[in-house]
This record gives sequence, C-alpha cells and structure tokens, in this order.
Amino acid sequence: MAILNQKGGVGKTTVTLGLASAAAFAGVPTLVVDIDPQASATWALGVDPGSGIYTAGDALTANRSGAAGDMITEGGWGPSVWLLPGGGDLTERETDGGRANASGRLKKALEGVTDDFELVLIDCAPSLGLNTLNGLVAADLALVVVEPSAFSLRGVTSVTDTIDNVFHDLNPDLDIAGVVLNKVPAVSAEADRRIDELGRMVGRKTVWKPSIPQRVIVNQAHGERRPVHDYGWRASEVSQVFDQLLARLRRSARA
Ligand SMILES: Nc1ncnc2c1ncn2[C@@H]1O[C@H](COP(=O)(O)OP(=O)(O)O)[C@@H](O)[C@H]1O
Ligand SMILES: [Mg+2]
Repeated sequence: MAILNQKGGVGKTTVTLGLASAAAFAGVPTLVVDIDPQASATWALGVDPGSGIYTAGDALTANRSGAAGDMITEGGWGPSVWLLPGGGDLTERETDGGRANASGRLKKALEGVTDDFELVLIDCAPSLGLNTLNGLVAADLALVVVEPSAFSLRGVTSVTDTIDNVFHDLNPDLDIAGVVLNKVPAVSAEADRRIDELGRMVGRKTVWKPSIPQRVIVNQAHGERRPVHDYGWRASEVSQVFDQLLARLRRSARA
C-alpha cells in the first residue's frame, strides 16, 4: 500500500510508522519502503540514513527484477518489520523521467521480495512526482492521509486524480484503500465540519475509521525512534487506533 499526499506534514510517515508499530506487536511480517529523500521513517525505524547502506534510490537505479532483495534490512523494531531505507539520493531519482521504465522501477525491484511479507507499506515523499509514481505503480492499494483543515482538503482531489490516472495508464491493479484523517483535535467544530466535508467529497465509506487523534505521544515516539505500542497505557488510545487501522488494511489486502 502506498501512503501518500503531495503535502508535507500531514502524517504519511506517522501512518506508516503507526501501522508498522501495530504490525510489529501483532507479529505481522511487514516491509516498510521509504521513498522520501527526507528518510524520516528510516530514521524512526532505527536506521541512520546516509550511513553507507543501500537505499530505495539504489533499488530504482538498478532497474532489475528483485533488486531490493539484497537491500532490505531489519530495522530496530523487532523481527517482523523490515525496511528498504530512504535517503537523500532519492532526490536525483525524482528527475529521471527520460529513463527507461522510469515509473516502474520500484515494482521491478520488489518483484519476489514482497513474497516474504504480508504487508508492504510505501511511505511516499510530499509530492506527486516520479518517486510517488513509482510507489503507486508498485502498489495494489493507495491510502491518502489528510488533516481536518480546509487547506488539506483542497489538495485531496489532485491526489485522487493522480491515483485514477495511474490506475488507467500504468497500474490496473491499483485500488484506493481510502482516506485517513490524522491530527484530529479532541474538540473542534472546524475539524468536525471538515470531516463531514471529506465524507461528502470522497464518500463516507472511503474515509477510514477511526481517525487518528492529535496526541503528544505520537511526536514523542518519533523523536525516540520507538514504536508507539512501546509506551503502554500512555499510548493506549493511539495504539488501539492503529490496531484497528491495521485490521482494516489486512481485510482490504485480502479482498
Ligand atoms: N496524530 C499526531 N499527533 C501528534 N503529532 C503528530 C501526529 N501526526 C503527525 N504528527 C507530527 O507532525 C509532524 C509531521 O508528521 P509526518 O508524519 O512526518 O508527516 P508527513 O510524513 O506527511 O510529512 C511530525 O513531527 C509528527 O511527529
Ligand atoms: Mg513523511
């Protein structure tokens, strides 16, 4: 599943890590593919970007079936969660449009490699450029992450249009998994209005339930590079939300 939005800061990486945390604790074999040059997911999973390791950028450069097999690494979150690391070199891959198979290289690199995992979570960069396109071509599902704000909602149609275009032109296996709301404040009439508006825009069933609340523990877990499920009762609300979202994803993935 590709996790995307052209905006930064909405919570793509948070959703990737939250699902990976839930998967780690449930023992669901999961591969995180970090195709953001900022490599936040990589860092949070305990792997230092730019430390001489292979990256998703190398996998794209290889243009070889199964190339990612030698490049994935066990992160720091236990044996269930593996990683194809991100890195700054992905910036160069954004402008490879003229190269052969430019948007199909991630799919090619992951061929066979994904057989060892139940879930593959692709954390996209905040753009709809070539790296995100590679994510959508490699994926069977696309999940759009939004915040309950007017600015965030205004961007949703360009993301869903991109998903539609990839489905028609490049990847007939691609389905929209849904739209998930992140950073939902405990009480806000404005947020409530935006949540209703999103339901009208994309259809209520497309909006994943539950939404992800805005909580300090999420930010803290990122900073300490630990799964949110490590924090026990302090994170139980957020952990349970990700458990439920993981259950929904596993149902979608089997469907
Ligand atoms: N639900 C949340 N509660 C609190 N902080 C959050 C939440 N979601 C995201 N953040 C914080 O917001 C920032 C941006 O989130 P991030 O997942 O990196 O966004 P993106 O990957 O879309 O750029 C990070 O500092 C993250 O810790
Ligand atoms: Mg991110």
